[in-house]
Amino acid sequence: MSKIEDLETQNIYLQEVKGFFDQWNIYQKVIQNNYMFHKEIHQVIHKLLLEHFQQEPFSLLDLGCGDSSLIAETLKYIPISCYHGIDLSESALEDAKKKFASSSFDIVLSHGDFFEITNQIKTKFDVIMSGYSLHHLPLWQKDLLFTNCRKSLNKNGIFLVYDLIKKDDENRDEYLERYWNNCKNNRKKMTIKELENSRKHIFEGDFPETIETLNNLASKNGFKQANILYRDPLLLLGLICWEM
Ligand SMILES: C[S@@+](CC[C@H](N)C(=O)[O-])C[C@H]1O[C@@H](n2cnc3c(N)ncnc32)[C@H](O)[C@@H]1O
Repeated sequence: MSKIEDLETQNIYLQEVKGFFDQWNIYQKVIQNNYMFHKEIHQVIHKLLLEHFQQEPFSLLDLGCGDSSLIAETLKYIPISCYHGIDLSESALEDAKKKFASSSFDIVLSHGDFFEITNQIKTKFDVIMSGYSLHHLPLWQKDLLFTNCRKSLNKNGIFLVYDLIKKDDENRDEYLERYWNNCKNNRKKMTIKELENSRKHIFEGDFPETIETLNNLASKNGFKQANILYRDPLLLLGLICWEM
C-alpha cells in the first residue's frame, strides 16, 4: 500500500478512533475499574518523575491525553512548569480542562492529530508521554513519531510509553484474540453494548508492537536502550521509558 493510500485509510481510521473516544464513558469505566492497570502504571510514573528531575520543574507533552484524569493526579505535588495535552476528542479535552482548573502551572490543550502536531511543533519538552495511544498508528508513523519526539526532547529528556504490547512470537491476530478474551472475561462492569463497541474498536484499529520493535525504532532514532518499568500479569500491556 502506498503512503497516500495508507494516509487515506488512516484518516478513515482516525474518524473511528475519534468516534469511539467521544463516547468517553466507556473508557472512563476502563479507568475507574483499573482494567488497564492505570493505577500501577501511574504509581511508577510518579516515582520516576520525582527521581529523574529531583525537584526541578519540567515540561510534559502528553500525546492522546484523553481527559487527563490520571496524569492530573500523578502531577499533583510534583514540580512541573508546563503540561501540553493533545487529543482528537473535544469532549475529552473539555473534561481535561476541568481536571487542571486549579493547577498553578501552564496548561495547553490542543485539539488535533498528535502525529501532525508533533511533525510541526517547535517547542522542546523534558518529558513526552504516550499513554495507550501509540498503538493507533501504523508502523511507519510510529517510526516518524519516535524521530519527532527525539527532536522535541530537551537534553536529559525522557520518552514514556505505556501501551498494548505483543509477545515476541505473537502476530497481531493472536495478540488481539488474547487481549479480547481477557476484556470479555474481566470487564464485568461493562454492558453488552459497551463490550461490543470495544470489540469493534480493538479489531478494527489496534496495532500493538513487540518491545523489540519499539526498541528498534527507539535506537534507530538515537534513544538509549529501553527501561521496562511495568508489565501486567498477563503480559498484555507495558510501561517503557527511553532516555536520550
Ligand atoms: C486509550 S485513550 C488513552 C487516554 C490516556 N492517555 C490514558 O492513558 O488513559 C487514547 C486517546 O488517544 C487519543 N488519540 C488516538 N489517536 C490520536 C491521534 N492520532 N491524535 C490525537 N489523539 C489521538 C484518543 O482520542 C484517546 O483519547
